[in-house]
Amino acid sequence: MTDDSQAAPSINNGNPRHVAIIMDGNGRWAQKRFMPRVMGHRAGVKAVKNIVEFCGKEKIEVLSLFAFSSENWRRPKEEVSLLMKLFVTTLSSEIKKLHRNNVKLLCIGDKTAFSTELQAKLTEGESLTQNNDGLTLVIAANYGGHWDISQAATQVADKIRNGFLSNTVITEELIAQHLSTASLPEPDLFIRTGGEQRISNFLLWQLAYTEFYFTAELWPDFSPDSLQEAINSFKGRQRRFGRTGEQVINQPNSL
Ligand code: IPE
Ligand code: IPE
Ligand code: MG
Repeated sequence: MTDDSQAAPSINNGNPRHVAIIMDGNGRWAQKRFMPRVMGHRAGVKAVKNIVEFCGKEKIEVLSLFAFSSENWRRPKEEVSLLMKLFVTTLSSEIKKLHRNNVKLLCIGDKTAFSTELQAKLTEGESLTQNNDGLTLVIAANYGGHWDISQAATQVADKIRNGFLSNTVITEELIAQHLSTASLPEPDLFIRTGGEQRISNFLLWQLAYTEFYFTAELWPDFSPDSLQEAINSFKGRQRRFGRTGEQVINQPNSL
């Protein structure tokens, strides 16, 4: 990559500007307590509320949460249906509160697979909060990194076919401008709870230079202190974006 625009230092008092989280381990949290898996998802919603509140206070600009992957439809029908209900009830009870707290909600993923009720709730949340300038809360629902790149490519192809783009060279910037996260800075810190160390088709393109942090803690147990620990780990790292460590120290603003 020759253009370093996306490699600009993402620092706000050393805090990451954008934190992206795979909230994993709800099912195991419940099973450990001999409870049905859905109880783990309910407990997971509580953890989400605490983390959103913390990010608002800490002036994190963007928090992206993987709520439902394009592969999660493969789960038992009952679990999928309970998750969909939980989305609707959570959105119904939280949208106004998010708005009061100046949070801007953005939903990424293929919404068309959802019920009209859920699609309407997502749209309601996005439009009510669109002018807020506090934390941007990105909910990835029916999201897949492969989907995101292919929908971006489709949009670019349509624009070329219809004459809206004169240049037919498909640059990295052009793809990036059509991703569902086009309006956001790249994630600085990626966290996955639950002990697995994989991306599971989350933000594939966007994670190119993100710092990774894995914890065995199950999502419902992930607290603001746990997030602070992840942020402390992030702060202790040197991000080089292809340069040498000496360049980073001697010319920190040379990107
Ligand atoms: C993550 O927790 C939540 C969703 C995928 C919706 P899991 O449900 O994957 O929990 P485990 O991994 O089975 O413990
Ligand atoms: C990833 O978790 C998706 C979400 C957290 C929404 P999964 O639990 O579905 O991931 P895999 O299938 O174990 O990789
Ligand atoms: Mg899981």
